[in-house]
Amino acid sequence: MALVLFAGFARAQELKPVKLDAPDKERGVALMKAFSQRASVREWSDQKLSIRDLSDLLWAANGVNRPDEAKRTAPSAMNAQDIDIYVFTEEGVYLYDAFNQVLNPVCSGDHRALPGMTAAPVNLVLISDISRFRMGEDSLKLTWAAMDAGIVSQNISVFCAGTELVTRPRASFPGMDKMKETLNLKDSQHVMLNHPVGYPKE
Ligand SMILES: Cc1cc2nc3c(=O)[nH]c(=O)nc-3n(C[C@H](O)[C@H](O)[C@H](O)COP(=O)(O)O)c2cc1C
Repeated sequence: MALVLFAGFARAQELKPVKLDAPDKERGVALMKAFSQRASVREWSDQKLSIRDLSDLLWAANGVNRPDEAKRTAPSAMNAQDIDIYVFTEEGVYLYDAFNQVLNPVCSGDHRALPGMTAAPVNLVLISDISRFRMGEDSLKLTWAAMDAGIVSQNISVFCAGTELVTRPRASFPGMDKMKETLNLKDSQHVMLNHPVGYPKE
């Protein structure tokens, strides 16, 4: 066990935390126009996301919009805030820390070839930690987790539609064990959705 933990720590050490920009709350098209443009795509350019776009994307997805109350852009059942966003890039996997607007390293290396991932420059994997729900049977917690993931997913889709990024929600994760091992997930953490995000293909 100690060896496994150390291996994960050593891998994460090769990456440095990435400080994200404060959100630009003035950007994007009008909300109704974003809805009219929302669509799921399967193709994107190879161009990496700018730090500006990545910062705003993550904040829109599930950032902190009311720091005084420690609340987020996405609602969650019982305010459990159970959805974590793991950010897969060419360099490695990071965990979005919404309260500090930082990406913390999870493991280095390009893991976008894992089952369920895509070659898009960024894959946002939404993972629910159902231990954050204060009550309920696991089956009910998993229902809430799916709802909470769906709401974060829609935030991502609408943000992309309004800022000329492209995305697609993807629920198929064949070979979940490999994902759990790579991210060193706890039993209470459930992989819900993947959102590849990129710029439109030319
Ligand atoms: C919960 C959920 C899971 C999805 N899973 C996948 C998937 O695994 N693979 C995929 O290609 N598309 C997936 N999609 C995208 C749908 O196929 C897509 O939303 C649908 O075809 C309607 O297209 P639109 O989003 O452009 O309106 C998923 C969508 C949702 C909401």
